[in-house]
Amino acid sequence: MKNYKLAIIGATGVVGQTALKVLEEEKLPIYEYAFFSSYRSSGKKIEFMGKEYTVRELKEDSFDEGFDFAIFSAGSDTSKKYSPIATSKGCIVIDNSSAFRMVEDVPLVVPEVNADEIFKNKGIIANPNCSTIQAVVALKPLDDKYAIKRIVYSTYQAVSGAGSKGIHDLKNGISSYLNKTDSYNLEKFPHPIFNNCLPHIDVFLDNGYTKEEEKMINETRKILGKPNLKITATTVRVPVLNSHSESINIEFENDIDIDDVINILKNAPGIVVQDNPLKNEYPLSTFSSGKNDVFVGRIRRDYSVPSGINIWVVADNIRKGAATNAIQILKKLLNKA
Ligand code: A2P
Repeated sequence: MKNYKLAIIGATGVVGQTALKVLEEEKLPIYEYAFFSSYRSSGKKIEFMGKEYTVRELKEDSFDEGFDFAIFSAGSDTSKKYSPIATSKGCIVIDNSSAFRMVEDVPLVVPEVNADEIFKNKGIIANPNCSTIQAVVALKPLDDKYAIKRIVYSTYQAVSGAGSKGIHDLKNGISSYLNKTDSYNLEKFPHPIFNNCLPHIDVFLDNGYTKEEEKMINETRKILGKPNLKITATTVRVPVLNSHSESINIEFENDIDIDDVINILKNAPGIVVQDNPLKNEYPLSTFSSGKNDVFVGRIRRDYSVPSGINIWVVADNIRKGAATNAIQILKKLLNKA
């Protein structure tokens, strides 16, 4: 079997660092790795699989050395600028940014849901938004059986989703509160995230929704292959370090049997059902952090409609919501290569 060369773009960031952990766990047939960042972190040392690597500044000629694959986790601007350069040199890009997700011929992939799309790529495969990924893992098997008619998303998203600056804002807020200091500089959010829930993720659009809400709506439709599906969303940043939680209300075309719904979720790929109210058992951010699965609980009928349910879905937004999902895509490519 051929061995492959992989570039990690944004290797010093929150997603990049987790991608390295997941790669160490997976032991893929890759014989050469290269780690890129902006000029700021270039020269930093990274310990990976028992070897020391130096982080390099990403430049236009970085792909000249012939990478087979690149995982981009360095924001949309970097993806927009460098992905076309990478693909022109024969490198397949798995992109964690939102740059190409809604481009028609770019596959938007969650392997448990639409793995076949991977092989339709023309050089770029997009990783969906973190909050969309964990939702569709739970929605797909239910859609297959009962046909989803409408979705209402309400999210409770961790600060790690906003990168290292988001994490700093929460930690600085906590220490400022504990040390009774008056003020500290916010690096990421427009208001203190400590002690607040901010109904504001990404920028506001003219229609009153945020871009994060629009991403969830559009990406869910694309991944489920239902362009006209009725979906609404409210996405909220909460003072949790890692792992997003989501309340999802789902209405179906067909009558449901709630025990069957629970069984479908229990048997679906990538899902762990944690649902035992008598023992106070339901998915938690702290439990799901560091794990690759999507955790589902509070599964119950919505009695306000003829056929509907409410579920609570929690996953590590940096693992399943970004790094793990990208590496699952990479594994599929390696198996087929
Ligand atoms: P750097 O460490 O040099 O800033 P996070 O999401 O945690 O904020 O991380 C963002 C990642 O993207 C970091 O690794 C960051 O590198 C990288 N990055 C940001 N801008 C660029 C760029 N223009 N070129 C390459 N990497 C970039």
